[in-house]
Amino acid sequence: SKEVSCQYQNLSAFPSDLSPSIEKLDLTGNFLRNVTEELMVNLKSLQVLNLSYNRLEHIDLKVLELTEELLVLVLAGNQLHKNSLSNGKAVGSSRKLQALDLSKNGLDSDAATSYLGGLSSLQKLDLSDNEMTRLSTDMFSGTPNLEVINLQNNHILEIDEGTFESLRSLRVLNLAKNSLSCIAGFGLIQLHILNLSRNSINVFVADETEGKYELQVLDLSHNKLLYFPLLPKLHLQHLNLSYNEITFRVPEPLNVTGVTGVRDGYKDITRLNKPRYSFPEVTDLDLSNNHLKSFPLPFLSNLKSLEHLTLSKNCIENVSLYLPHVSPMDFVGKEHDSMSVTGMSLQSLRSLYLQENLIESWPSWFFKLFPQIEKVDMRNNIIKPCSAQDEANGLWSPSGNHLRCASFSSIPTLKYLSLHGNHLTELPPYMFYQTPLVFLDLSGNENLVMSRYALAGLEPSLEHLNLAGNQMSSASFSPPCLERLKVLVLTKNQLEDLPSPLACSPLENLDIRNNTLQGLEDRVVQGWSRTLKGMLLSGNSFNCCSSNWLRILRDAKVDV
Ligand SMILES: *[C@@H]1O[C@H](CO)[C@@H](O)[C@H](O)[C@H]1NC(C)=O
Ligand SMILES: *[C@@H]1O[C@H](CO)[C@@H](O)[C@H](O)[C@H]1NC(C)=O
Ligand SMILES: *[C@@H]1O[C@H](CO)[C@@H](O)[C@H](O)[C@H]1NC(C)=O
Ligand SMILES: *[C@@H]1O[C@H](CO)[C@@H](O)[C@H](O)[C@H]1NC(C)=O
Ligand SMILES: *[C@@H]1O[C@H](CO)[C@@H](O)[C@H](O)[C@H]1NC(C)=O
Ligand SMILES: *[C@@H]1O[C@H](CO)[C@@H](O)[C@H](O)[C@H]1NC(C)=O
Ligand SMILES: *[C@@H]1O[C@H](CO)[C@@H](O)[C@H](O)[C@H]1NC(C)=O
Repeated sequence: SKEVSCQYQNLSAFPSDLSPSIEKLDLTGNFLRNVTEELMVNLKSLQVLNLSYNRLEHIDLKVLELTEELLVLVLAGNQLHKNSLSNGKAVGSSRKLQALDLSKNGLDSDAATSYLGGLSSLQKLDLSDNEMTRLSTDMFSGTPNLEVINLQNNHILEIDEGTFESLRSLRVLNLAKNSLSCIAGFGLIQLHILNLSRNSINVFVADETEGKYELQVLDLSHNKLLYFPLLPKLHLQHLNLSYNEITFRVPEPLNVTGVTGVRDGYKDITRLNKPRYSFPEVTDLDLSNNHLKSFPLPFLSNLKSLEHLTLSKNCIENVSLYLPHVSPMDFVGKEHDSMSVTGMSLQSLRSLYLQENLIESWPSWFFKLFPQIEKVDMRNNIIKPCSAQDEANGLWSPSGNHLRCASFSSIPTLKYLSLHGNHLTELPPYMFYQTPLVFLDLSGNENLVMSRYALAGLEPSLEHLNLAGNQMSSASFSPPCLERLKVLVLTKNQLEDLPSPLACSPLENLDIRNNTLQGLEDRVVQGWSRTLKGMLLSGNSFNCCSSNWLRILRDAKVDV
């Protein structure tokens, strides 16, 4: 065999009878302390050596010279902070090594550096979960061909200028879970993926080097950013700014010390719609868990490729054309003008996540901004749906801008909508008219009353309807004939019987747990039994004397 695995065998010494033809040896989870010459002298063909989770503290100087073919060396979870100078010499002389894992070894910056001496072929390096505090320019001078570096979960406070710049092939850099507070003069044009999640970054300013950056993914989540990072023109596609303190407010006189130009830079942010801060290729933007108070439309309208926008868990109260505190001069007189609104539209936006804000209403033109929108999550807001009268008065009229309600009608691309937990008590008639929803979640709106025509218009499209936890009585639930409905969730209501129009629907799954049903109609159940796959019915007060419907379900092999 060319592969030998001796994982978790309580070995305290190298197995002695290994064949010289072995290419892959896995000794994970034993009690090895030393890697010695005489044991390795035979293993001339070894390409992959996994020594993770042992107690290694000593590696003979010649060991890796002997195993000339070694490509992958895993040393994670050992004691290699000990004897780092001599061990480092041994490891650092492995000319063909392509991947080295030194995670979880208690290494400080100097100790880590000593392992990286002459690894001229190394492409992938893992130094995560160590004790490094600083990265200096000499650290990677022996590893010029690195492509992927993982430095996650250290205590890195400082990175000297020039540390990564010489690594021409570097594509992926993970610095998540460190203690960085400021990224100034970021100039790593070669990077594709940069992870800075879970640091304490309050300033991020990149150098302006026209059009050269390759960065595609930037994760700045869980930091302390007060403002949008200052990025030059990028090919950035995925930008994660969740869990920061961004408000889009113009900075008060800045108290950032030590970084010249930052203040001027941030003054520019007041002119966010300038091309300098446009991100023409961003497709995913996550701004959840920040401190936004309104929907930052002028800024977002620069993100012409945006497909997925997450603004959940902010304090957005309403949608306005204005950035608070920014001079509205650019927009004066235009707010009534449908042309200027179209000019701001996000042509590619497909999903919009606005859950857990304080949104009550939006201007009647709001969804005209997103001509391709398919999915909207409005869970846990305080939406006030427009009545038919509001709609008639409001749409595209000058007063539409100030409409104090939220319209869901005439959104021809929208398929998925969640209005869970919005304290909705009433759904006005024709609420979703000309919006061909496939999926609608209205659960968690206690005491909801659904009028006869509330779902009118959804008959030919709706496939999934969730009305759980609404405490609806039979009198307040009158759906139309939903011709395509497959999944219906009615858990936790107070239904005494199911409304007859439901017999129309080709249901596949029905959940009627925790209602006050006494039975179901044989005729209706007979109809459903052709399509029904599963049905949940516990927590009702069914009458055992008339349970023919149950037999019908059993005969149809419905999972009950
Ligand atoms: C390793 O030692 C532990 C503790 O003595 C024992 O429970 C376990 O069975 C041993 N494993 C093997 C593979 O011998
Ligand atoms: C490991 O190597 C050290 C230094 O060469 C030596 O003192 C020690 O006895 C060795 N231990 C084992 C278990 O081989
Ligand atoms: C080394 O072993 C660890 C623990 O089993 C495993 O997670 C890792 O994938 C292995 N690495 C290689 C390169 O085989
Ligand atoms: C960045 O690192 C964090 C922490 O390990 C991780 O949760 C996140 O998924 C990473 N981000 C990306 C874009 O890979
Ligand atoms: C952004 O980061 C947060 C926190 O790490 C994570 O939960 C979220 O899924 C990320 N967003 C995207 C769009 O990947
Ligand atoms: C929307 O929010 C802005 C700023 O918070 C406020 O001035 C305005 O009155 C609000 N508009 C509506 C219609 O609630
Ligand atoms: C139904 O009600 C019972 C008793 O109150 C509760 O324990 C159970 O979790 C409820 N089930 C569902 C699906 O709500």
